[in-house]
Amino acid sequence: MNRVCIEPAAKAARYHRLLDEHQGKPLLVLDCDKLEQQYHGLQNALPGVELYYAIKALPHAAVIRTLSTLGACFDIATSGEIELLREQGANPRLTMHTHPIKRDRDIRDALRFGCTTFVVDNIYEIEKFVEFRHRVGLLLRVSFPNPRSPVDLSRKFGCRVEEVPLLVQKAQELGLHIKGLSFHAGSQSPDSSNHVYAIEQCAALIEQVQQQAGKLLSILDIGGGFPVGYDKPAPDIDTFCAPIRAALASLPEHVQVVAEPGRYLVAPAMTAVSTVMGKAKRSDATWYYLDDGVYGSYSGQIYDHATYPLTVFSDIEQTESAVIAGPTCDSIDVVAEGIELPPLNIGDVVIGRQMGAYTAASATDFNLFERATIVVINEKGAGEGNIVFLDAGTPA
Ligand SMILES: Cc1ncc(COP(=O)(O)O)c(C=O)c1O
Repeated sequence: MNRVCIEPAAKAARYHRLLDEHQGKPLLVLDCDKLEQQYHGLQNALPGVELYYAIKALPHAAVIRTLSTLGACFDIATSGEIELLREQGANPRLTMHTHPIKRDRDIRDALRFGCTTFVVDNIYEIEKFVEFRHRVGLLLRVSFPNPRSPVDLSRKFGCRVEEVPLLVQKAQELGLHIKGLSFHAGSQSPDSSNHVYAIEQCAALIEQVQQQAGKLLSILDIGGGFPVGYDKPAPDIDTFCAPIRAALASLPEHVQVVAEPGRYLVAPAMTAVSTVMGKAKRSDATWYYLDDGVYGSYSGQIYDHATYPLTVFSDIEQTESAVIAGPTCDSIDVVAEGIELPPLNIGDVVIGRQMGAYTAASATDFNLFERATIVVINEKGAGEGNIVFLDAGTPA
């Protein structure tokens, strides 16, 4: 269920001004200051762990520029993402290709760019690298299912723990260098217990491979999964990572640890600003139709199983049963139901929080409603003054 925050009407003025500057179009406001804060927050919670931003969460040039300036590395999964990095002048040495299933041209594009670390999870994929064996290092992705995560990334990808020694041996026979292991413990993980379990299992595998094959696996990629606050407030990132830090401390010293955060870095950095374009009294509730919905910026409510916290502005204390819907003609296009809102007017703004990850990235223009315009604020060196903007009713 979407959390709803009701703020004084006066606080809507800044959003109306911004909408006026953009011809009243639906907006996604990307705050680079917030992005920077998130990056530092995770860095502090995972000292010594190199952060590879998972571009898929929000493939936007300002995100790449901001994170590059902070010294971040990048997790790429497609040639399109490589192109984005190339345009922004990112260093190819600070990238790794993490899609476990690749076409020949994906491999060639990545190599041409200068990326030399690739993730694989089965023998067919390992074999694709034979002709490039002198130029690449591979990470073997291991599956650690997490039924408690809304996005379990260990069903479609990852080999079983028992397969690891044999795959390492087969790669070795083919002249390929397996540099280490990777996993994804499930996106928006409710707690870090699956990360800890996966790290412990990987530590045992690293030991086993060293004993059996005399091979040092020197990288452990602990993936993403660091949560943000949707239907409930986000856990404190330092508290979330404390058990991960403890588990990592027991890894052999030669193992370098990296992570691939997507959601945690960008979700809190983007805010949807939409306008009520129509309303109707129906038997069950008052329906408000926004100019953005689940075919647009709220697409993550379908694909990513997220329910974004909403803010409306009103000085009326009384609330009534309400539904917030998107603009398209399809009936699935409903953002929030079973909520209580004060009466809203056509032209009022509705704010969606925590909307940076897997939102714009999967938005469509179904019905030919144009996608929201992304407005970048507080980007260092972009020449614009800093805007103190996102201070109204931000749930954690
Ligand atoms: C391979 C890989 N790495 C990292 C991520 C980012 O995960 P999260 O957004 O949970 O941090 C994903 C998400 O799909 C992924 O597939």
